[in-house]
Amino acid sequence: MASRTETLEQGLARVREDLLADDRLVRAVASGRRRSATPDWRRVELRWVDLKAGRHLQVVRYDATQAHTSNHLAGDAAAAVVEDLLAEPFGNWTVETAAHLLSLRVTKKGDAALHTSTRTLPAAGAAVEPDRGHDRAKERMLAEDDPLFAALGLADAQGRIKPSRMAKYRQVEDFLRILDRSVADARARGHLRKPTAEDPLRVVDLGCGNGYLTFAAHRFLTERRGLPVHLTGVDVKEQSRDHNAAVAAGLGIDASFVAGTIGEAVLAEAPDVVLALHACDTATDDALARAVGWEASLVLAAPCCHHDIAAQLRKADTPTPYTALVRDGILRERFADTLTDALRAQLLRSRGYRVDVMEFVDSAHTPRNTLLRAVRTGGVQPLTEYDDLVATWGIHPRLGELLGT
Ligand SMILES: C[S@@+](CC[C@H](N)C(=O)[O-])C[C@H]1O[C@@H](n2cnc3c(N)ncnc32)[C@H](O)[C@@H]1O
Repeated sequence: MASRTETLEQGLARVREDLLADDRLVRAVASGRRRSATPDWRRVELRWVDLKAGRHLQVVRYDATQAHTSNHLAGDAAAAVVEDLLAEPFGNWTVETAAHLLSLRVTKKGDAALHTSTRTLPAAGAAVEPDRGHDRAKERMLAEDDPLFAALGLADAQGRIKPSRMAKYRQVEDFLRILDRSVADARARGHLRKPTAEDPLRVVDLGCGNGYLTFAAHRFLTERRGLPVHLTGVDVKEQSRDHNAAVAAGLGIDASFVAGTIGEAVLAEAPDVVLALHACDTATDDALARAVGWEASLVLAAPCCHHDIAAQLRKADTPTPYTALVRDGILRERFADTLTDALRAQLLRSRGYRVDVMEFVDSAHTPRNTLLRAVRTGGVQPLTEYDDLVATWGIHPRLGELLGT
């Protein structure tokens, strides 16, 4: 970390250089005020995005209640908006590039206090895109005062998350962080197609409930990442379909909602991305089987309760010497959770998916915090481990049956 004080002009020149480096800039934020003046915006975030019309500087300006997003073509248009923003009397700029972190604070005397630190270089073979999540403090994926949250009832009219809904907001944030990294990585590695305005990314949320994560995913991918997205939500409850359709209409979101079961819902076209978040018990298996059938490129599934395998373990003969693992109810349930998800991961690996089993959201917020992330790479693993496990434990996983294994 290097610290020094320069004239404000010199300091802002460094910020300008980083902001306009469309190959290196990861993200920049302007915030706070100077002693002498207040900027027009509470906070501004900048990043480069690739749109159909070419590379653009995306600027998200936050006022007291709303986020306003605009995109500016690389070149003169982007340079002009950068000049306007540098002229605003922000008290702080923080800039993250692939190579370094730079922060600028305007001192009481009107100088620039600068801190720079060099970033750890990514491992060889890592994605060449700027790392959007690695080695960084958590960024807000969607601001609390994004109008979406008020429309969903998570925030009050002033754009503050209601204390009783804070856990859900955190869950949404953690989920978006994983979705963002997963989409960027799958695209960088050629596993997820580039969507266009004519052929948007098709995202389906199976068991979408009231659509908190569904709408947040749409908002984030379209507004923050500039990706054209068509969203479909499926839930067995008609009330869910009607409620979500009304919210989508109110927000002007391109989405359709289907009342039907995950196993049988009919979609107009096979989706690219399948989400299934806390769909109950074997509904997660239905969702994974549909994803495999659709050959979805990316699947994010956070399982909920796991009654099926727990019930089978209770009835089956326990293999030696594992009785102690399943004698007590709480241990049997936890073991069943682990066994169920391990078997799901193996089945997906045998169907051409690279699978990570990861923490979804901090366990302080929900005990249901496991996420299966599956990316369709075409690499197929043998079912040997799966076969050994189900034979040893005498069980018949629902996903195995659905996939005809
Ligand atoms: C625990 S809620 C989760 C809602 C939402 N995904 C979320 O994370 O906020 C589970 C939802 O899945 C729906 N669901 C459960 N089984 C289903 C099935 N087989 N087909 C369609 N929807 C199902 C329920 O109606 C409920 O809305």
